[in-house]
Amino acid sequence: MGRVIAVANQKGGVGKTTTAVNLAASFAAAEVNTLLIDCDPQSNSTSGSGAGRSDERHSTYDVLLGNATIDQAKLATDLPQLWVLPAHKNLIGANIELVAEEDRALCLRKALEAVRDQYEFIVLDCPPALDLLTLNALVAADSVLIPMQAEYYALEGISQLMDTIERVRESFNPGLAIEGVVLTMYDDRTNLAQQVSANLREYFGDRLLETTIPRNIKVAEAPSFGKPVLLYDVRSRGAEAYIRLAKEIMERMENPPQGNFLASAVLG
Ligand SMILES: Nc1ncnc2c1ncn2[C@@H]1O[C@H](COP(=O)(O)OP(=O)(O)OP(=O)(O)O)[C@@H](O)[C@H]1O
Ligand SMILES: [Mg+2]
Repeated sequence: MGRVIAVANQKGGVGKTTTAVNLAASFAAAEVNTLLIDCDPQSNSTSGSGAGRSDERHSTYDVLLGNATIDQAKLATDLPQLWVLPAHKNLIGANIELVAEEDRALCLRKALEAVRDQYEFIVLDCPPALDLLTLNALVAADSVLIPMQAEYYALEGISQLMDTIERVRESFNPGLAIEGVVLTMYDDRTNLAQQVSANLREYFGDRLLETTIPRNIKVAEAPSFGKPVLLYDVRSRGAEAYIRLAKEIMERMENPPQGNFLASAVLG
């Protein structure tokens, strides 16, 4: 059974998509089968993983509405062990169309049942809202990974996310864990970043991950080439950081899959 990790934070622009794409790619580069699911109508993780945009294929929308299976809709990528379930801007409509369904929060979880054993990791990129799409992701997930920027207002809004996680635990998914909080676009040279990081350490304890993701131009450039950063510049600080993040998450698991980090396929 693959581990399902929802990358969520209702705050916009904190690095959810960048983290989802590059974490999924790092798992795949460690030679474990990984599925990236784009749950955001903005479809940034679809284009960022090289799947481009198209009106002519099945997408997350069709899967949520039961019109296609994940196997039918998934696409291969440049990494042999990474697949992506693409999103389309029509996904915005699912928020409204699903409201009438009794099992509206369970659509993704049901769709995943058929494919969970094909992957070691399934990474869900959530939209910047606590909407029905994020709810579906949290209900389907084993854990939540929360990307955050080390800003003065970092903790603002987090209590709302924590309340939502607690409600999902009470209603649908008692086992939902916090995978961790990861600091993105991090610059440890500033006092503010260190101060915020210390505050987060107090609030989250060891749920604040050791790995931080530095602000790195290669990370920002890679999506315009439709590539995760490790296929764009594997020796960049950004690529190294995401590989370290994948390693840290695997090392914290009780039964981690046997990854082979920086497989020669990636370097070659
Ligand atoms: N480590 C980094 N170094 C440099 N730029 C980064 C880094 N991480 C993210 N960015 C840039 O910051 C912007 C926001 O990142 P991203 O799209 O991943 O955030 P998001 O949380 O998914 O946004 P949204 O809430 O709109 O879905 C993007 O332009 C991205 O390229
Ligand atoms: Mg995003």
